[in-house]
Amino acid sequence: MTKPRVGVVGLGGNGRAFVRGYAESDLCELAAVCDLNPDRTSAAVAEIDAAPIEFQDLDTMLSSADLDLLSVHTPDHLHAEPFIAGLQAGCHVLVEKPMGNTLEDLERMIAAARASDRKTLVGHILRFNPVYEQVHRLCAEGRLGQVFYLEADYFHGLKRQAAPERINPHIGGINWWLEHEKVIVGGGAHQFDLLRWYADSHAVEVTGYGNSIVFPEMKHPDCMCAIFKLASGAVAKVGAAYGVVGPRPEWLNLEVYGTEGTIRGGQFISGDHDNPTVQDLRVTYEGHPFAPEIEHFLRCIIEDTEPLVDAFEGANSAAATIVAAESVEAGGVPMEVPHFQR
Ligand SMILES: NC(=O)c1ccc[n+]([C@@H]2O[C@H](COP(=O)([O-])OP(=O)(O)OC[C@H]3O[C@@H](n4cnc5c(N)ncnc54)[C@H](O)[C@@H]3O)[C@@H](O)[C@H]2O)c1
Repeated sequence: MTKPRVGVVGLGGNGRAFVRGYAESDLCELAAVCDLNPDRTSAAVAEIDAAPIEFQDLDTMLSSADLDLLSVHTPDHLHAEPFIAGLQAGCHVLVEKPMGNTLEDLERMIAAARASDRKTLVGHILRFNPVYEQVHRLCAEGRLGQVFYLEADYFHGLKRQAAPERINPHIGGINWWLEHEKVIVGGGAHQFDLLRWYADSHAVEVTGYGNSIVFPEMKHPDCMCAIFKLASGAVAKVGAAYGVVGPRPEWLNLEVYGTEGTIRGGQFISGDHDNPTVQDLRVTYEGHPFAPEIEHFLRCIIEDTEPLVDAFEGANSAAATIVAAESVEAGGVPMEVPHFQR
């Protein structure tokens, strides 16, 4: 196949990082960029050594730019329409995480994925980070034995997202972050996706609690904590909060307990209980691994291989966290989690 022609829609901080990544990749041609706000398309193009065509309308870009790959970086609650439109236009589609932030959107997106022969990738970037890949390798090699408990937290100081500049006149004059963001979906889905990957399973039920104490400008509770029952029998816990004081620690809380080993505090502990073998794990990675994620999806398209996190994988990670948020808002009611099967 010749180099895939790529179009990027949604040019906030995240979309622009992908524009730079595609522009720097030898595996594709960055053909077009699109944002409702023309200042954002020109700012994105000014940052790169390439001259993609600038669009303000996605349908026009899809009908005229002859794209092979659409990369979707719109706000969380606006992922479904571009994802579906891209597949229906015959493009392979990369969509940022969370794949969607309502079950209805996920169902429509999965129906579009089923009706298409194109490839999909959901941007669960932590799966491309060597820090988290090494934990998966240990789990997949059976070094932990049978995993029975996992936990991870997404605790951040993100109050800057309430800044007035975040109000976008092109999407109804709202700050989507304050109106639509659900911390356990937008943030916690990163961690839940890792836990699901490590346990090689999916959630069947979840119960969550939360509050709006520290960042009450957010419409949904800004602190959420949920316990997931996985189909494998393992139990997983995810916490997410956006009003945390203090810098991010090097090792974000991540613990995985198996019958033969434990991941805790950036270490892999195995062997005899009283005299264990302790292996230090890699705990740092500079920045986000956008380039490896982009290269992975381009290679899947060029070499016709399966993406690591396709729409079904992404939907199962998003769905469990969406139901977790519903459980929080219902005051801690246990709720069944749907499972999307290929
Ligand atoms: N993987 C990660 O680590 C990571 C990090 C940050 C953000 N994200 C995700 O990236 C996405 C974007 O986040 P952001 O902070 O860059 O958002 P943002 O609000 O800054 O930018 C989104 C852009 O999309 C544009 N847009 C919305 N609907 C559009 C449409 N129909 N056509 C064209 N343009 C449209 C808006 O005008 C805006 O410029 C979110 O889903 C977010 O959760 C992922």
